[in-house]
Amino acid sequence: MRIVFASSEAVPFSKTGGLADVATALPKALAQIGHDVSLITPYYPQVLKRSGVEIPAIKRTGISIRVQVGPKFIEGQVLQSTLPGSRVNVFLIEQPIYFDRPGLYVEQDQDYRDNSERFVFFSRAVMEATRLLGLKPEIVHANDWQTALVPALVNIEYRGTPGFEHTASIFTIHNMAFQGQFWHWDMLLTGLDWKYFNWRQMECYGHLNLLKTGISFADLVTTVSPTYAREIQTPEFGCGLNGALSARQSDLEGILNGVDTEVWNPATDTYIAKNYSLGALEDGKAVCKAALQKRLGLPERPSVMLLGSISRMTHQKGFQLLEQCASMLLDQDIQLVFLGSGEPRFENLLLEMAKSHPEKVATTIGYDEELSHQIEAGADAFLMPSEFEPCGLNQMYSLIYGTVPIVRAVGGLADSVIDASDENVANGTANGFSFCEFRSDVLFWNICRARSLFADKQKWHRLQRAGMKRDWSWKHSADEYVRVYERAIAKCLAPAECEGDERQDEGPAHQ
Ligand code: ADP
Ligand code: GLC
Repeated sequence: MRIVFASSEAVPFSKTGGLADVATALPKALAQIGHDVSLITPYYPQVLKRSGVEIPAIKRTGISIRVQVGPKFIEGQVLQSTLPGSRVNVFLIEQPIYFDRPGLYVEQDQDYRDNSERFVFFSRAVMEATRLLGLKPEIVHANDWQTALVPALVNIEYRGTPGFEHTASIFTIHNMAFQGQFWHWDMLLTGLDWKYFNWRQMECYGHLNLLKTGISFADLVTTVSPTYAREIQTPEFGCGLNGALSARQSDLEGILNGVDTEVWNPATDTYIAKNYSLGALEDGKAVCKAALQKRLGLPERPSVMLLGSISRMTHQKGFQLLEQCASMLLDQDIQLVFLGSGEPRFENLLLEMAKSHPEKVATTIGYDEELSHQIEAGADAFLMPSEFEPCGLNQMYSLIYGTVPIVRAVGGLADSVIDASDENVANGTANGFSFCEFRSDVLFWNICRARSLFADKQKWHRLQRAGMKRDWSWKHSADEYVRVYERAIAKCLAPAECEGDERQDEGPAHQ
C-alpha cells in the first residue's frame, strides 16, 4: 500500500509531544510490514539547531511547490531525508517565513498569530508535494488540527485527478483540546468555497474549526485509544465536538499507540547505567535507581520508593492534584523526581518542593531525552494522574522498564494499566495502580497503596513482570491501521460512499 503520512512534528526533526513520536514510529512499523510510506513534515531549522540531536542527512530534491494561501502565492522547497534504520522516505517542507522560527506553534507562551495561515500552507504543501513527487498514494493520513485541512483537500480538490484516482483519507485525533479554531475570515485562507462553512463541516460556533474539518471530511477517523474514542463522544471529553464525532460514530475507531522499542528498551538503552531485562530485573533496576539518585543529588537509599514523572506540567496531566496533596506527599518517606516544563504555577511549585525538601524531591525544568530514559529505568513507580489522556506514552515506557504506573483510568491509561486489585494481583494481570475519580485524596491514597505493595517484594515483582511481559511495540497497532486503511480504500471504491461528505447538508452560504 502507498501511504503518505502528514504531521506537523516528527522525531528527530521536531517534537513538542507524543505526536512527534507516533509520526515516526507508526510509519516505521508500516514500512516494516512491507508498505511504502512517505512522511511529510515541516522543516524548522532553528528548532533543529537548538535541539542539538543527531539527525540524518537532509538533501534538496530540487522540487519547488507553489500554493495559494488566501490572496498570496507561497513558494516552498521539498527537502528529503530518511528515518534511521528504515525505508520510510521523509520529505521536509522548507518555507523560511513560516517555519524558520524559534518555536513550532508558540513563542514566549503566545501562539503565533499566523498559525492558521502557516498550517493551511503546510496542508496544501503536503498535497502539492505528493503530486509533484509522483507518490500516487492510496492513503493520505493526516494528524491533528495542523494537517486537518488535508482530508478536505483530498475530498474536494484532489480525488479523481491524476495520481489521486482513488485516494482515501484518514484523520487521526491525538488531542481534542487543540482544535485549530480561528475567526471565520480565515476561511478565505483555505481557498475552499464558503458553502463548506456550515455547522456540519468547517464551522463551529461561528469560527473556522480545522479539527472539525478533519473529522467531517476524512473517509475514516481514528484516535489513539479505544477508551478515548468512546470518551470524546461525550460532552465531558468532546471539547464541544462530541456531536460531530457521534455523527461519525460508525467511521470512528480507537487504536492504542505503540512504543518504538528500538528507542525504549531497557535491554539495549544506551542512556541507562545498566541494561536489564525480566531475568535480571532487580539487579538492573537497583543500579539504575542508585545512578539516578546520585545524578539528582538524592540520598542513595535502595529501600525508599522513588516516584518519577516526565511530562508537560499542565492541567491535562493532573498537576493540580499533585499541588493539592503536595504537603501530604512531603510528609511521606518517598522520593519524587520531576522532569518537564509547562505552566509557571506548577513549575514553581515543584521547584519549591525540591528546594524545601532536597532529600525527597528533585525537579528538572526543561527537556532532557537522556534523563527521561534514566527516570524510566531508575524509578520504582511512575505518576500520571491525567485529567484526560488520549493515549499517553510514558505509562507504556514505564511498563516496559518495570516501573509501575499510577494513573487515572482515562483514555489510553485505562487501556494499558490494569489496577492492582487483590484479584488482579492474584491472577497475575495487574501491572499498576489505576483510579477513576479526579481527586487529590484519591491520588494520594493510590500512592499509599503503591507504597504498601512496594514493601512486598514478591507482589511488586508480579506487577513489574505483568507490564514487561506484554508486547507494547507498534506491531499490533500497525496491523490495526492497515485494517482501517483497507476499509477506507474499500469505502472510496464504492461510488455511493465516495460522494459521502459532498452529500452532507451544506447549510446556508456564509459571507
Ligand atoms: P503528550 O503528547 O500529551 O505530551 P505523551 O505521553 O503522548 O504526552 O508524550 C510525551 C512525550 O514527550 C514522551 O515521549 C515523553 O517521554 C516526552 N517528554 C515530555 N516531556 C519531556 C521532557 N521534559 N524531557 C524529555 N522527554 C519529555
Ligand atoms: C497527544 C496526547 C497523548 C498521546 C499523543 C500521541 O499529545 O495528549 O495522550 O499519547 O498525542 O498520540
